[in-house]
Amino acid sequence: MRIFVAGGTGYIGSHTVLELLAGGHDVVVADDFSNSSPVVVNRLRQISGKFFPFYNIDVRDEAKLDGVFSDHKIDCVIHFAGMKSVGESVKMPLAYYADNLGATIALCRAMEKHGVSKLVFSSSATVYSSGNQMPLTEDSAVGNCANPYGWTKYMCEQILRDAAAANSGWSVALLRYFNPVGAHISGDIGEDPLGTPSNLMPYIAQTAVGRRESLNVYGDDYDTIDGTGVRDYIHIDDLAKGHVAAINHLEGKTGTSVFNLGTGKGTSVYELVRAFEKASGASVPQKVVGRREGDLPICYADASKAARELGWIAEKSIEDACADSWRWQKKNPDGYLDTIASTQVRNSLASSSCSSNSAFSGT
Ligand code: WQD
Repeated sequence: MRIFVAGGTGYIGSHTVLELLAGGHDVVVADDFSNSSPVVVNRLRQISGKFFPFYNIDVRDEAKLDGVFSDHKIDCVIHFAGMKSVGESVKMPLAYYADNLGATIALCRAMEKHGVSKLVFSSSATVYSSGNQMPLTEDSAVGNCANPYGWTKYMCEQILRDAAAANSGWSVALLRYFNPVGAHISGDIGEDPLGTPSNLMPYIAQTAVGRRESLNVYGDDYDTIDGTGVRDYIHIDDLAKGHVAAINHLEGKTGTSVFNLGTGKGTSVYELVRAFEKASGASVPQKVVGRREGDLPICYADASKAARELGWIAEKSIEDACADSWRWQKKNPDGYLDTIASTQVRNSLASSSCSSNSAFSGT
């Protein structure tokens, strides 16, 4: 199948592109680089050994999307395009609603216009209400989200349910991610958040490689195995494979389905730090500070529905994720590019006429 990957140079999108290509699918990738690096395009082509069309566009731009869907016969859309920082969403909620909901609506309109009836959506465990029993199942309470980011994912799920109900032939999979970690085994792509990482694993990796002085542990007085927060950390490769399984699941089906993509296991902050130190041989200085507002003590998935219905389970371990994350960070201590090189590449992009009809040549 030919898959349109919206947001395909981001952390999860880029790893999913590799799994799609490895699975024999054709891909058409679009990204506006608002939260990713242009360098990723050619790294994906180099790792996979395959060329694919790339469009440097904002998927909210319906005219440009129309150009892409006119240029290529798309069989399925995977929608990663959106802003994804919990903390940032509290500071700039309007940008989050405009971006995340706008991209989803524009993609649905392009699908309706061009007769595309399959979509996989990058949703999140943040749609679940607080106060649920653990582990979270797909039937756990949703809504009453703790932050605008979670609300945008909740609302996008509803938009997609309604669009699927209005288009009888549509088949939509909503994938609720837990905590993605790790990197591709090559060490050439990985998690490279802009600015100071808010998520645990990239902060650990940047501390280990010397970019950060020490890790702040947000509280060690929770009712957990060692007092620190417990989460369901899923290797990015397993998460990417979950998308391929979801695409296969959509074949011959209609309506909307929901799946948790997690490991079903919880790991504490201290357990993850220790695993990373063991995998890297590097030390991760840390300091216990106050709890972070909005944090749950424990959050992990019941992933049995994906196992039953998608034939998918997470196979890689925390140790695999730490080793792969370290390989990426050691190979790319400053992420994809230092700021100067990144500016040069972005400027060259801005000057080149990357319309929706010309695939980006990459650098
Ligand atoms: C994990 C644990 C922190 C950083 C996030 C967001 C969202 C979602 C999943 C996509 C917690 C502790 C963290 C640090 C720390 N992704 N921590 N020091 O909060 O579970 O969820 O990822 O939808 O991005 O909801 O992930 O990595 O921020 O925190 O002690 O510097 O690590 O308290 O217990 P979280 P996280």
